[in-house]
Amino acid sequence: MNIKINFKKQVFNRPNENLIFFVDENFNISSLKKSISNSDYSYVSDLIKTRDTKKKIITFNISSKKKIILVSINKNITNSEIENLGADCYNIIKELKKSNFFINSDTIIQNTKNLVGHFLHGIRLKSYLFEKYKSNKTKKNIDINIFGKNIPTTKDQVKFNAIEEGTFYARDLVSEPGNVLHPDEYAKRINSLKKFGLKINVYDEKKLKKLGMNTLLGVGQGSTRGSYLVIMEWNGLRNKSKPLAFVGKGVCFDTGGISLKPAKFMEDMTYDMAGSAVVVGLMKSLALRKAKVNAIGVVGLVENMPGGNAQRPGDIVKSYSGKTVEILNTDAEGRLVLADAITYTEKKFKPKFIVDLATLTGAIIVSLGSEYAGLFSNDDKLSKQLIDAGENVEEKVWRMPLNKNYDKLIDSKNADMQNINYIGGAGSTTAAQFLQRFILNKTPWAHLDIAGMAFSKYGGALNSGGATGYGVRLLNKLIEDNYE
Ligand code: BES
Ligand code: MN
Ligand code: ZN
Repeated sequence: MNIKINFKKQVFNRPNENLIFFVDENFNISSLKKSISNSDYSYVSDLIKTRDTKKKIITFNISSKKKIILVSINKNITNSEIENLGADCYNIIKELKKSNFFINSDTIIQNTKNLVGHFLHGIRLKSYLFEKYKSNKTKKNIDINIFGKNIPTTKDQVKFNAIEEGTFYARDLVSEPGNVLHPDEYAKRINSLKKFGLKINVYDEKKLKKLGMNTLLGVGQGSTRGSYLVIMEWNGLRNKSKPLAFVGKGVCFDTGGISLKPAKFMEDMTYDMAGSAVVVGLMKSLALRKAKVNAIGVVGLVENMPGGNAQRPGDIVKSYSGKTVEILNTDAEGRLVLADAITYTEKKFKPKFIVDLATLTGAIIVSLGSEYAGLFSNDDKLSKQLIDAGENVEEKVWRMPLNKNYDKLIDSKNADMQNINYIGGAGSTTAAQFLQRFILNKTPWAHLDIAGMAFSKYGGALNSGGATGYGVRLLNKLIEDNYE
């Protein structure tokens, strides 16, 4: 769906069109007197008495071409509740015949900062559709005209837009099927983000071999496509101060490898690169809004395939860190890709912190479903910042345990460690415990297991189903509130 938003400084001149107004929690409409005709006003005030009090948005049919939509705003409404109202409003207006809408921002009496900005943000986020491969696309354009003074500043408009574009970019990447977005194509697409001012380095197999990134390379070796580590840099401070680092799992398709997955739902594994897509989307957002921060994005891009050259269960490989890993199950591949990416990021950039994101375990879906991502961290301060940012933008995280007692489950007889826990239990924690072994210099680190969050079959508050882009707004908020 195409949403066009026009800000108009002039006063509202009673357009004979679809109108949207914000009212208080009691649906007091006295502030609308000047904005609508006397007959419309008495029509609305009569009907409003019999309203369904549970509803926050009420539509009045003035004529077949004209609706008046009232959106009720509580006194202590949060930004994310306003965004949800925008999304609900989008669901109403997308069904209406006429797609021109007029908002009078001057009727807003509630003392809410940036109400219009968050409302429109919700509309835009909800309106995203992935229709690239549909012959019959939704052709509808929706025009929203906002009058009056209560509109976001130019700076806030840039910020909202940057976050939307980053989220949409992540959703686009996650939505692409495995035959299109294989590692070769993915690396090219990231490279094209140079035009936004990001510095991009693409390490191909030859370079990775030289560096000794054998746990990453082992995952991709059964594929006819290449394996890559791609590094994105945003130097918003124009100085050399320590960057923030974000690392993402980019398994373009996860068949499980020789430890092959069952056929049912294997198609879902096109989204096994969602962690990397969040990192790419975030970096794009930071560049678009010219964030005053230094940040690094590192993604490991591979395809996990069975084949004549594929990695075998029982193989022992030496990681970039020097530690050796016995591969007991080739389907526990994400941690192998991240292991090398994390050690490299820590060693090369000495960042303030590392946050990694991955669709790492099915077990996190068992524990947290699609409400919270699993957070595993060696640092209380970073954890608190992530939890707070998550509550704020409704991309929530729940902290899960790390403990050295879990280590015995991944210690190997034949190598320094093994990539799965054979005894069973605590599947997400043992995966995180594995990753922690590749932080060598006590850098504050957080791992977000987003397996339950990256894709939504039925849609959520701010997405209409499919790729959610979960994580882009969370990390933007983390940065904005604590590091800019
Ligand atoms: N990509 C999967 C995890 C996953 C499962 C993501 C479902 C999204 C939805 C990961 O690579 C995997 O296969 N994990 C295994 C680990 C096991 C072999 C120790 C799992 O969770 O079953
Ligand atoms: Mn797997
Ligand atoms: Zn995987």
